[in-house]
Amino acid sequence: MRSSRPTGSLVALVAAVALALGVGVAPASAHPPHPGQGDKVPVATGTGGAVTTVDADATRVGLDVLRRGGNAVDAAVAAAATLGVTEPFSSGIGGGGFFVYYEAATGQVHTIDGRETAPMAMQSNAFVENGVPIPFADAVTSGLSVGVPGTPRTWATALDQWGSIDLRTALRGATDVARRGFVVDQTFVDQTTANVARFSAFRSSSDLFLRRGAPPAVGSVFRNRDLADTYDLLARKGVDALYTGRLAQEIVRTVQDPPVGRRSTLVVRPGLLELGDLASYQSPLRAPTLVSYRGLDVYGMAPPSSGGSTVGEALNILEASDLGDPTQTLHHYLEASALAFADRNRYVGDPAFVDVPLEQLLSDGFAAERACLINPTAALTKPVAPGVPDGDYASCATAAAGTEGTDGQSTTHLTTADRWGNVVAYTLTIESLGGNGIVVPGRGFLLNNELTDFNFTDTQGGNDPNLPGPGKRPRSSMSPTIILADGAPFLALGSPGGSTIITTVLQVLVNRVDLGMDLPAAVAAPRATQRNTVAVQAEPGFDRAPLQALGHTFVDNPEIGAVTAIEFLDGGALLAVAEPVRRGGGSAAVVHDS
Ligand code: GLY
Repeated sequence: MRSSRPTGSLVALVAAVALALGVGVAPASAHPPHPGQGDKVPVATGTGGAVTTVDADATRVGLDVLRRGGNAVDAAVAAAATLGVTEPFSSGIGGGGFFVYYEAATGQVHTIDGRETAPMAMQSNAFVENGVPIPFADAVTSGLSVGVPGTPRTWATALDQWGSIDLRTALRGATDVARRGFVVDQTFVDQTTANVARFSAFRSSSDLFLRRGAPPAVGSVFRNRDLADTYDLLARKGVDALYTGRLAQEIVRTVQDPPVGRRSTLVVRPGLLELGDLASYQSPLRAPTLVSYRGLDVYGMAPPSSGGSTVGEALNILEASDLGDPTQTLHHYLEASALAFADRNRYVGDPAFVDVPLEQLLSDGFAAERACLINPTAALTKPVAPGVPDGDYASCATAAAGTEGTDGQSTTHLTTADRWGNVVAYTLTIESLGGNGIVVPGRGFLLNNELTDFNFTDTQGGNDPNLPGPGKRPRSSMSPTIILADGAPFLALGSPGGSTIITTVLQVLVNRVDLGMDLPAAVAAPRATQRNTVAVQAEPGFDRAPLQALGHTFVDNPEIGAVTAIEFLDGGALLAVAEPVRRGGGSAAVVHDS
């Protein structure tokens, strides 16, 4: 979580004041909080490597790794582990994610699928009771929605494949932050506040995150010694300790028999996870998606994420269109998003279970057919129907029906680059803000509720690619993206935000590439998201009037996404960018400032 780091003496002063007020300050410790690095900076330019995350501590830890000679992969794992401490409601070892890596030595882009996986006992009707889907909120806070965590295996895979340090070294900075503590900021308080009711239901969660039933105070020091010990365990024994050891047993016990307090009235359904599910978990390398957009090579995450296919299809539709002036560009951005979402919902799921027509979804022919549907003078009636990516694209088809995308508030994205030219775009999550709300007792981390990313019932007339299944991975929207120009890195980016991740990445690309904004402006610009829904969700600052004149309707969304990105400038300089305002602002840094 974002902690603007006061100086050591200011930390002491704040802590003393808060202690005097009797609120939310950890007791005196032999481990004082880490000395601060100053306020977060959303834009940094320089050389030697870069790290950008939503959080100052995570960025600092990642940058330390680069300064000590580590590479972009090492820095990404170190920063991600730190986000598990300081952003515990958005990420952590109880969750999963997708890791995209550009390897300078070979010019290749690799990806790791660290998606959570359904237990083998999970059937397609797992979220249906007495013929009706269970209330979504019940599934959110349950054992039933917990998938096998993918994040620890992702870290081990990334370091084994491309890292230059071992897991023990990569976890050192994060463990230090967990043990010594970080200074709580308003965002941490807000996100805890949003979870008070749920955390109160579980002793393990309230013990860790609440102080006499309330969030910790802004400015207090938050320590998580249990998580420091858990990281120490992984450092000593490797991530197998989580998948097969005593910790695996504790995770299974927590899922199968959630530790609900006696006085809680919450209905908390047990889950289906078993030791065998954890023991057999893999984080496979997958071929990235690739589309060409205005001469750039755009690499993304393949299924089970829908990020690469949906961003890629929308870019292809835009390239097949005449974008015209800025209003027409945004009109086409919204329409291309809606069309690509219709196809995502119909066709994209776990490729181990579903025959995803990825090549056709990303083909220029399909994009041209879909682009034909866009009317420059009038918005399409939403939802639009999915197209037919069958290779036969002689003429424009007509639309009939469609479905609505889902949304989410959690997740986090980080971007790193090193002095050798390697680049990482890594998005990780525990799904809802606060995951399933349940801390594994004594272990210091929340479990995911990623299986709520499955559709609970068929949304596609008997063809839903995203129903639950044994060992299946729920469809994701995470869109870590790396873009090359003439074979060299041009831009790397990603965002949290549930299915709005896709449109956020797309809009930043349109802003940067088509509307000619520089990267900080492209990230800061007000956002709108059209995911094949009747109304477009838009931030307050988004200029709606010209698009309303074309028939788009809008509803408010106070904040969409939280991007981090790195642009590779001419002459070898790096432009690292985070949010100036959203989610309290992010933290960008380079090894050598220019
Ligand atoms: N949990 C958000 C996503 O995977 O899209």
